[in-house]
Amino acid sequence: MIGEWLDIGPVGQIAPGTARTMPVVGGEEIAVFHTLDGEFHALVNKCPHKHGPLSEGIVHGSVVTCPLHSWNISLKTGEAQGDDKGCVPVIPMRVESGRLYLKRDVLLAAAKVGA
Ligand code: FES
Repeated sequence: MIGEWLDIGPVGQIAPGTARTMPVVGGEEIAVFHTLDGEFHALVNKCPHKHGPLSEGIVHGSVVTCPLHSWNISLKTGEAQGDDKGCVPVIPMRVESGRLYLKRDVLLAAAKVGA
């Protein structure tokens, strides 16, 4: 359905193993990750521990290690791994014709626009 997915630009803008941030007007910043396996994931850019910027962490497999205290956060579920507890919202993505799309309603809810 047109409008359901928000076009955030070409796939090539995010090198494998890195992330880019995306501001959401009136809401939380989003981090969009490109894994070395070629997957894309979008999460609110706040570690569930003490809000470290996950976009600056190290990506390995489908996990990012937070740059502040090294919690490992699943890029698929947003959940802290191992003994650590916490979860950050994940926004569904899709890749089509070389462009990245975020699910608009989930994005707005995850970023809590206007809250
Ligand atoms: S803020 Fe991410 S591990 Fe502490």
